[in-house]
Amino acid sequence: MSVDRRGFLQRAVKYIFGLMGLAFLMPIAYLYPSTIKRRRLKYFTLIDEDDAPRKGIKQVELSYELRGDTVKTRIFLVRESSGGLLCLSPVCSHLGCLVNWDWEKGEFRCPCHGGRYNMVGKNIGGPPPRPLERLPIITKGGIIQVGLRL
Ligand code: FES
Repeated sequence: MSVDRRGFLQRAVKYIFGLMGLAFLMPIAYLYPSTIKRRRLKYFTLIDEDDAPRKGIKQVELSYELRGDTVKTRIFLVRESSGGLLCLSPVCSHLGCLVNWDWEKGEFRCPCHGGRYNMVGKNIGGPPPRPLERLPIITKGGIIQVGLRL
């Protein structure tokens, strides 16, 4: 075997192992998105504290400006059995479609691939690998604000 050929084979083996390493790390980034969340948390006015659900779920429409565009989305406020207020992102953890609350079935359903989540956002069926994201909320002057990473 010539030196050039041996050098080529050594490089090829290094590249192959490098690609295998990347292939191994990509699912980790997919399953643990917190490792790639470095965007700034910004709070937006959501709803008057008196209008928060006393029981069950309330869908709240939210619009905000992002890089010159108006973004319209929905946020879910959930009154937990413990009395606490939970704020859930509508973004499906599978491929990012927006979920809807199904009043008849009492669960969140994703229209894209049939993902299902229970009332507190836990994935209970279909392809979603994780629960719905819980968004931080704060109350200032009687107004509930939701934190989004933009
Ligand atoms: S994007 Fe929701 S199930 Fe696929």
